[in-house]
Amino acid sequence: MLETEMSETVMSETGPLLRVRDLHAEIGDPRAPVHALRGVSFDILRGEAVGFVGESGSGKSVTARAVMRLAPEGAKVRLRGSVDFAGRDLLQLDESEMLDIRGRRIAMVFQDPMTSLNPVMTVGAQIDDIIRRHMNLSAREARARSVELLGLVGIQDPARRADDYPHQFSGGMRQRVLIAIAISCDPDLLIADEPTTALDVTVQAQILRLLLRLRDERGMSLMLITHDFGVVAGMVETVNVMYRGRIVETGRVDAVFAAPAHDYTRRLLAATPRLHRSGQAA
Ligand SMILES: Nc1ncnc2c1ncn2[C@@H]1O[C@H](COP(=O)(O)OP(=O)(O)OP(=O)(O)O)[C@@H](O)[C@H]1O
Ligand SMILES: [Mg+2]
Repeated sequence: MLETEMSETVMSETGPLLRVRDLHAEIGDPRAPVHALRGVSFDILRGEAVGFVGESGSGKSVTARAVMRLAPEGAKVRLRGSVDFAGRDLLQLDESEMLDIRGRRIAMVFQDPMTSLNPVMTVGAQIDDIIRRHMNLSAREARARSVELLGLVGIQDPARRADDYPHQFSGGMRQRVLIAIAISCDPDLLIADEPTTALDVTVQAQILRLLLRLRDERGMSLMLITHDFGVVAGMVETVNVMYRGRIVETGRVDAVFAAPAHDYTRRLLAATPRLHRSGQAA
C-alpha cells in the first residue's frame, strides 16, 4: 500500500505528466466498429507544449477526448490501452474520480466558442458557476475571480464585460472567454482542439500567443491540435503527426520540419505553403 503510494508520488513528480500507451478507440456499433485509434502512444511533460497535426479524420480529436475519457460528440467509444496522468491510469478510474479530473486537472478548449457557451447567461455568470462547482467560494469571491480571469485572457474592462452575453463578444473574444473558463481551476493540462480554426489569421495568432503565455505563466502543459502545420511551427516543442489512427512521426518540431522522416509528414509539409514561403521549414 505504502509502496504504491510512494511510487505514484515519485512517478507524478518526475515522470511525464501524461503517458499514453497503445491507445485504441473503437466507435459505434460493436459489431461493426470504426477503429478510430490503432495504438497511439505519446508523452507530454510538465510545462511542455505538444502539437498534434494530421489530416481530417486522422484521429486528433478522438485522441484528445480519449485523454478526458470522453466519446466523440453523439457517439459511443470503447477505449483500450493506458492513459497515465500524474501516475494514475485514467482508463481504470470510476466515473466520479474522472469527474474530478475533468475540468479541474485537465481542461479543454474546442473549435467553436459559440456552441460551448450558454447564449442566455452572461459570461461572468458562466465562469462563476464553473468556479463554484470546483472550489468552495462565495458568490462574491467567485465573481472577483471571474473578473480577474477575464482580465488575464486580455478582455478589456473585465468587470463590466462580465455582465455581457456571449453574442456581445466577437469570435476571438468568445474564444478568450472559453480559455478563461478552461484555466479557471488551474489545470495541469490544457487541451486545445483546433482553437483558432474559426477565427481570422490575426486573431488566430493572438489566441495562440495567449495560450503560450498562459502555459509559461502557469506552468501547465499544452496539447495543441491542428490540421495546419503552420500553426505548430514556433509554438510547440514537440510535434506528433497523426495518420489513420496512428502517430506516424514524433519529434522536436524544428527537427521534424528540417528533416521529416515519414512520407506522409513530407506531403503534409508540402501542403503548407506559408511555411515554405517564410522559410521556417529550414
Ligand atoms: N461521432 C463519430 N461517429 C463515428 N465515427 C467517428 C465520430 N467521430 C470520429 N469518428 C471516426 O474517428 C476518426 C477520427 O476522427 P477525429 O474526429 O479524431 O479526426 P480529426 O483528426 O480530429 O479530424 P478533423 O481535422 O476533421 O477534426 C474518423 O475518421 C471517424 O472515422
Ligand atoms: Mg478534430
